[in-house]
Amino acid sequence: MAEFKLVGLCGSLRKASTNLMLLHEVARIFDPESFVVGDIDFPLYNEDIENGPGIPDKVQRLADQIADADAVILSTPEYNKGTSGVMKNALDWISRTEGNCWKDKPVAVVSASPGAQGAARAHSMLRTLLLPFRPRLVAAPEVMAGQIKSQLDENGTLTNDMAIKLVTELTDELRREVRRMAA
Ligand code: FNR
Repeated sequence: MAEFKLVGLCGSLRKASTNLMLLHEVARIFDPESFVVGDIDFPLYNEDIENGPGIPDKVQRLADQIADADAVILSTPEYNKGTSGVMKNALDWISRTEGNCWKDKPVAVVSASPGAQGAARAHSMLRTLLLPFRPRLVAAPEVMAGQIKSQLDENGTLTNDMAIKLVTELTDELRREVRRMAA
């Protein structure tokens, strides 16, 4: 979908994150005009920061990137049966910026884990956390990539046919949502 601007958020900060690889695969299959992975390596939310030095520049930058994007994809790992603190912290900070960059934004959620369930609980938690911001959240299919290392090759390319099919369906739905919002 060459004319669309896509932003991705990854709930894992580690360089070799499998969620980051999955995020790039979702973007590749969506085929946007541009794709940036937003930086969510923020300080922990603290109201004293907000009321003192103010909202960090990198938080505002991300809120602006989301507002400017045609669609956003989020990929979450599962840490102790929930989404990562990094992801929750990012949502909390973004919620403190002016306006609501998520409102009516076409959004897709994916998740990955080495376990069999593909971070299912983190995935559904993240969906729940997003709902108050009123994005156009793609309901299905739910891409929860389990045993993720066996689904990616050494270049981080998805090799599992079923996963590719689901991601393709998800990106089709996301594209449909973008077009619906633009109509
Ligand atoms: C995990 N991991 C994990 N996996 C899972 O499926 N369910 C879980 O509840 C947890 N809990 C958990 C807690 C903590 C603190 C860590 C560090 C890890 C394993 C996790 O899925 C694994 O580290 C993934 O590889 C993380 O995703 P990235 O970094 O590869 O994107």
